[in-house]
Amino acid sequence: MTLPCLGHPNLGLGVGLRTAHFPYILQHRPDVDWFEIISENFMDSGGRPRYVLDQIAECYPIVMHGVSLSIGSADALDFDYLRKLKRLAGEVKARWVSDHLCWTGVAGWNTHDLLPIPLNERTLAHVVGRIRTVQDYLERPLVLENPSTYITFADSTLPEWEFLSRMAEETDCGLLLDVNNVYVSSVNHDFDPVEYVRSVPHGRVVQCHLAGHTNCVTHLIDTHDGVVIDPVWDLYRLAHRLTGGISTLLEWDARIPEFPIVHAEVLKARNYMDSALRPRPTARTVAISCETATVPHPLAHSIVQVAEG
Ligand SMILES: [Fe+2]
Repeated sequence: MTLPCLGHPNLGLGVGLRTAHFPYILQHRPDVDWFEIISENFMDSGGRPRYVLDQIAECYPIVMHGVSLSIGSADALDFDYLRKLKRLAGEVKARWVSDHLCWTGVAGWNTHDLLPIPLNERTLAHVVGRIRTVQDYLERPLVLENPSTYITFADSTLPEWEFLSRMAEETDCGLLLDVNNVYVSSVNHDFDPVEYVRSVPHGRVVQCHLAGHTNCVTHLIDTHDGVVIDPVWDLYRLAHRLTGGISTLLEWDARIPEFPIVHAEVLKARNYMDSALRPRPTARTVAISCETATVPHPLAHSIVQVAEG
């Protein structure tokens, strides 16, 4: 039997730690439940970033989120990278370590993009083997995120949610459910995002991501440069109910506003939680019935936006 969230606590509502906010956080110590760091930003750097991180890690729970593991690559695993990752996780007492179901380079060349993989039995076996190796090395479960994607492969035979479910089942890894990524991919590839959220193994979902994206009319791009739109909040409401409440984090990586604006955006999540599943009710909580999750088809939403534009 799998413990909910692989036994991890619900940390509440967190914010992605970005250097632009270092001065504000150090000065004001905002009432944020937790921070997520981009692992690679601190693995090699000492100096001020690491000095600041160490101070923040003394006051807030830290989760590590990587972008270079390249678990789907055909290249050999980079054990020098894993060594640094493991060391940092120990030093900042990371609650868990996550990355993406993707590949990020070939032959030692990093594309700095989270690239999709074909989803079939062969790639599943490949990824499962690599996850087991990584988990054995890190001596902790890995948590993997569903990517936002813009192409599919002719030799994909499995829906992404089935691939993730079997991957998690076979490796005992955790899942990071990015509901914005689900929405972005559902529009780009015309699948039902509600079926996706309903189909992933909810007991293995350790964390949820929220973010904004850019609507390019014919497709969506996962830009992390704005507020979360209503259909994504509705997916979050559904995910929160089905998982029983999970650690939730807002990503904001471009056109980053002042910290209080970013923090206020993630606090909106309280409006979409079942009252029984809220980790830490406060006066700012707004009671909204969450009995039924009604999520419009994403294409319907796009059409409305086109008409309004
Ligand atoms: Fe994400």
